[in-house]
Amino acid sequence: MSFQAPKGVPEYLPPRSAIFLAVREAFAAAAGNAGYSYIEVPVFEDTELFARGVGESTDVVSKEMYTFADRGGRSVTLRPEFTAGVMRSVLEHGLHTGQLPVKLWTTGPAFRYERPQAGRYRQLQQFDVEAVGTEDPAVDAETIAIAWSGYQALGLTQVRLLLNTLGCKQCRPAYRAALQDFLRGLDLDEATRARIEVNPLRVLDDKRPEVRAQVENAPLITDHLCASCKAHHDRVRALLEDLGVPWEDTPRLVRGLDYYSRTTYEFDHPLLGAQSGIGGGGRYDGLSEDIGGPPLPGIGFAVGVDRIILAVEAEGLAATAPARVAVYGVPLGEEAARRMFTLVNELRAAGVAADMAFDGKGLKGAMKGADRSGATYAVILGERDIAAGSAQVKDLASGDQTAVPLAEIVTTLKEKLTQ
Ligand code: HAM
Repeated sequence: MSFQAPKGVPEYLPPRSAIFLAVREAFAAAAGNAGYSYIEVPVFEDTELFARGVGESTDVVSKEMYTFADRGGRSVTLRPEFTAGVMRSVLEHGLHTGQLPVKLWTTGPAFRYERPQAGRYRQLQQFDVEAVGTEDPAVDAETIAIAWSGYQALGLTQVRLLLNTLGCKQCRPAYRAALQDFLRGLDLDEATRARIEVNPLRVLDDKRPEVRAQVENAPLITDHLCASCKAHHDRVRALLEDLGVPWEDTPRLVRGLDYYSRTTYEFDHPLLGAQSGIGGGGRYDGLSEDIGGPPLPGIGFAVGVDRIILAVEAEGLAATAPARVAVYGVPLGEEAARRMFTLVNELRAAGVAADMAFDGKGLKGAMKGADRSGATYAVILGERDIAAGSAQVKDLASGDQTAVPLAEIVTTLKEKLTQ
């Protein structure tokens, strides 16, 4: 019997897994540079947290959650996203009672029972950034700038930023009512008519051409904003302009999660086909109260690591396999293998990435391993070398080989590698 990974769960094997780490590192550096600290939150939470936080009317909660009863009979859910869990953790540990905003980042898998296809997975990897306890539009722009610089650091040049606002508790109800009035007058199927009553904004997001044509003249949120939402939105855009981050005003942009208010945005990659959303975020000023906390605004985003890897590949940026190590040991014989083992560990302790041939491989097999490792130098140690108290250091690019006293190998290689 043989096993396969569960359906819709991508795995990242070497050498491709190096891109996975590079994506994480690019965003971690961008978030760290902006003063965000790492937070580790649970992979599963009380089901009710997501039902209340993300919202019962969303596809994520109503159709896609991995929910099960644990052995104690509690209903738990594998996190479909990070924001609700981060907010729960901030409230539980009182982080919001200290200096504000609380700036956090986290990363890892999230779980959504979606129909798997290229770029859409059931175990998806996110990199997530949250700033809790601020209403300053500069922080909205800051989160966008962090995501933007992450994409830039990876060399991506085709990312598009789609920007919108959803208004607030003051102005959204009137807009929602106006939109519902408009939508009720259209010729729509029953499921869509039902959606008008629950989540009318989602109808604007319908991809079917016959629906698209009908909603073309639907009222837009940007024409119904209250003065403070308009000022907020204008400020975010002015700051993005100052930073030179290009965006597209997208008044029909709808996010798939219920907690959003005011600023919302998505990052899109044109080479990815149907699953082109490589990141998304926005304000969630009501989330804290929705999950039983005090009024506490917040803003953040998550990028999809899986899709960014596809974008890196689509733009031809996936470098050739990175070198695993700098030095590769080739011991010939039992005694040499023993000495080489110590030498390789001394190199590692000195900060030089090193590996060696195992299983008593002969010269030919061991040199093949050296080539595959991507090492710059091979250290060859035979019986005659041991007798002479030295080893052969071979430059694997040029083929030049020199004898170096065993006692000087570590310093010599360290020097050569930093030249
Ligand atoms: P989201 O738009 O649901 O937002 O997900 C963020 C990103 O995760 C998407 O843009 C996409 O790249 C990736 N993603 C989502 N679902 C899948 C999937 N099934 N397969 C592959 N990638 C996927 C959130 O999750 C919010 N929590 C973001 C946020 C943080 N808002 C405020 N703070």
